[in-house]
Amino acid sequence: MYLALFILTAIPSICKGLDDECDVGPKDLYIEMGSDTEITCQTSCTRGKIFWTQDSKPLDENLSKTINSTHTVLSLRNFTQRSATVQCHRADTKQIVGGTIIKTYFKPSKISCVLHYNNQAIEGIPILFTCNWEHQVDPPLEINYTVLCGPKQIEICNSRETTCTSRYGAIDSTLPLFGESSVIVRAKTKDWEVSSDPYKFTTTNLLKIARPALNVTALSDHLLVEWKILSHITRKSHCQVKYRKAVDEETPEWVRNKTLENGNNKKGNMTIENVESCSNYTFTVRCALINTSWSDWSLEKTVLTKLKKIDVKLRLWRKVDEVEKNGVRRVRVMWTEIPSTCQDSFTYAVKQTPDEEHMTGANYTLCSSSVCDMNQNAHRIKLTVFEKELLFVEDSVYVPAIGESVPQVTDIHSSTLDGMILVSWKAPVQPVSGYMLDYTHNGNQYHWKETKYTNATLFDLLDKTPYNITVTPLFEDKTGHGTQALQICSRVGDPGDVTNIDVKAKDRSAFVSWKVTSQEACSGVVVNYTVFYRAENGTWIDDTVASTKQDILLKDLIPETEYRIFVKATALTGSTKSSETRFKTKRYDPSLSTTLSVSGGILIFLVFSLGLCCALRWKKFDEKPVPNPGNSSLASWLSTSHEKPSQFFHIPSESFCDRVDMEEASRTSTPPKAPSRNDKPAGDQTEICTNPAPHIQNEDPTEAVETQHPSSPGESTELLSPQNSPSSPYRTQSPVEIPALRPNKQSKPVKNTTQRMVYVTLDMFEQGQGL
Ligand SMILES: *[C@@H]1O[C@H](CO)[C@@H](O)[C@H](O)[C@H]1NC(C)=O
Ligand SMILES: *[C@@H]1O[C@H](CO)[C@@H](O)[C@H](O)[C@H]1NC(C)=O
Ligand SMILES: *[C@@H]1O[C@H](CO)[C@@H](O)[C@H](O)[C@H]1NC(C)=O
Ligand SMILES: *[C@@H]1O[C@H](CO)[C@@H](O)[C@H](O)[C@H]1NC(C)=O
Ligand SMILES: *[C@@H]1O[C@H](CO)[C@@H](O)[C@H](O)[C@H]1NC(C)=O
Ligand SMILES: *[C@@H]1O[C@H](CO)[C@@H](O)[C@H](O)[C@H]1NC(C)=O
Ligand SMILES: *[C@@H]1O[C@H](CO)[C@@H](O)[C@H](O)[C@H]1NC(C)=O
Repeated sequence: MYLALFILTAIPSICKGLDDECDVGPKDLYIEMGSDTEITCQTSCTRGKIFWTQDSKPLDENLSKTINSTHTVLSLRNFTQRSATVQCHRADTKQIVGGTIIKTYFKPSKISCVLHYNNQAIEGIPILFTCNWEHQVDPPLEINYTVLCGPKQIEICNSRETTCTSRYGAIDSTLPLFGESSVIVRAKTKDWEVSSDPYKFTTTNLLKIARPALNVTALSDHLLVEWKILSHITRKSHCQVKYRKAVDEETPEWVRNKTLENGNNKKGNMTIENVESCSNYTFTVRCALINTSWSDWSLEKTVLTKLKKIDVKLRLWRKVDEVEKNGVRRVRVMWTEIPSTCQDSFTYAVKQTPDEEHMTGANYTLCSSSVCDMNQNAHRIKLTVFEKELLFVEDSVYVPAIGESVPQVTDIHSSTLDGMILVSWKAPVQPVSGYMLDYTHNGNQYHWKETKYTNATLFDLLDKTPYNITVTPLFEDKTGHGTQALQICSRVGDPGDVTNIDVKAKDRSAFVSWKVTSQEACSGVVVNYTVFYRAENGTWIDDTVASTKQDILLKDLIPETEYRIFVKATALTGSTKSSETRFKTKRYDPSLSTTLSVSGGILIFLVFSLGLCCALRWKKFDEKPVPNPGNSSLASWLSTSHEKPSQFFHIPSESFCDRVDMEEASRTSTPPKAPSRNDKPAGDQTEICTNPAPHIQNEDPTEAVETQHPSSPGESTELLSPQNSPSSPYRTQSPVEIPALRPNKQSKPVKNTTQRMVYVTLDMFEQGQGL
């Protein structure tokens, strides 16, 4: 290794030491790609044979030629490598005598030049001369290009790009507008310089004319494209018209060619017919003189095409309404209006005439907008469309006379499927060319549809909307009688809402009723109702009734339990549920407690009456009248207790008690404690002495039943007043309230009641004095 380095560095010094030149030249050789070159190896220092290598590979000895004892020349032909290292070696020691690097470059190629306009709108001579070329440079270098013109190689343009523009005015002396000339492009870097091959041309063939001026006019059924070439040079030229529909998405482009001949070579025109009505189209045009390059495309022009008569489909139709009283028929006229995108203003006129006059060709009368009133005779309705007062198109439709023998379809069947209505019918016996269906959901807005078959599918309908459909046969240029199908819904929806759930609960059963209300015309027909109910912690129980019933009796309920309940209405097309409500069952059977309270009341009355009578009778025998001191004598008082007992009391005739033993009454009375309304022993009732019958008659039995319920907290079965004492003879004069007639929590105090009472009058003082 060291040895090699020593040799590499030592050899030249040895050579130098010998004062003999030993080298390869020229150094840093740049040659044009594909050219020939020669390299000289000076071998003064060795005087031996040499050989050559290129990128370390030996070169053919034939390429090398020894001129004299010190100079050997290597000739390289058609050198195409981008870069190569060429070295000269001593044949005996293979030592490198010297070397050089050869690099290649390309010359500019594919030159093209045009004479053109700076400002496309200005007529006149082309004022710019632009050349473009290609130049392969790798890696990129700073290159100065020069365009040289004419046989005298006059510089006309400098650039660092592969394009260069000069003003024609500055070079017109070197570049005659007529005749032949040539340019070359010279490329210059710091290391090398190369010129292109000459680009020869006839100046007029370089002419790129200004872009044409374009105008497009929309006519009734076609478009007229016109353009003008702005050029002094009058020669035959080719032009291209390019157009497309101006919409957002990509649309196909059409290109039409047109050659302008020598005679009329400045103005072109073209008729475009295959365009859609009322659509925007965009046009552009370009032209080229023969053998020259295309001009730029003209500025785009967009035009709205006009409505073509052939595209107008009025689809005129009429719908005969029911005959009115005076024999006038109302006929609605319908047609498809011309789309509003068509700029022209169109007006419509609807006229009618009796059919026979239509045959003889005259007298139409104007209908009021789209409704014609006519008698029972056959008529013809004519629709005329004017475009700015000029007749554009017209169409007519036949209305048969009432009872006229014209075809009519029968057996119309309609059904719905996914919001569509399928209609089918039976063809009439007479031959017909087709059928027209018209259908409406509100009587104002009509749709109509023609078919050749005896069925049709109507779609794009409003959802859950009833439709009236009429089928009318068509024949020749006339129409038959229409047949209306039964009104049909485009879709049948859920049943109506279940509302007004009413529950009448007893202890073990409940009577539930409900209503169904529907806002929609097309709600489903209920098939059955299912009532779902459950106790608070129970599972849902369901019970179904047919759609004919809107009530149900729920059985086997648990007394005094809160239930949740809702009702589901099921139709074939769906179901609806009511909202959930609650009810509570009673503790006892209310009818049982009615019986109980009524019979209990009677029993109480009887017992009390009996007690009172017994008490009075006892008093009669037990108590003596109080002696009048005025009548007293000083004689000692002897007991006369049992004298005339029957005169002590006067019992009113209306009293229920006739002879009541007071002692008996005392014994049946309660102990003398203050009665409490809220905490009242059931036995208190036995103290009531009432005449309840008239009150119970005046009241609703149910309410009465509830009030009599012993468990009812609001009950105010009345008591005897506190002053009642078994020892007082006046005790029964207190008013006695019968049970309150309403389950009123705020039961009234005793003294406020105005109930009927039983009085027992103790007349003993007067009677006694009268004795
Ligand atoms: C050999 O040829 C070269 C070139 O022709 C010349 O320059 C040189 O002087 C010659 N050497 C001798 C020794 O003649
Ligand atoms: C190119 O031209 C400019 C001036 O025109 C000069 O300054 C520059 O050195 C030139 N470059 C080369 C590579 O010749
Ligand atoms: C129109 O001309 C161009 C070029 O001249 C050509 O390629 C194209 O086929 C022509 N089109 C028609 C429809 O003739
Ligand atoms: C047209 O109508 C007018 C008025 O109704 C009537 O006088 C005239 O005779 C009619 N013409 C024809 C040809 O029926
Ligand atoms: C649909 O037809 C029925 C029966 O002929 C009619 O009573 C109703 O008014 C019609 N409805 C509409 C919107 O025309
Ligand atoms: C008419 O009925 C035939 C046979 O039922 C069916 O194939 C056809 O699709 C129907 N046409 C329309 C428009 O519904
Ligand atoms: C209620 O009607 C629906 C729909 O027809 C049916 O599926 C269901 O079985 C019926 N329920 C009863 C309990 O009949």
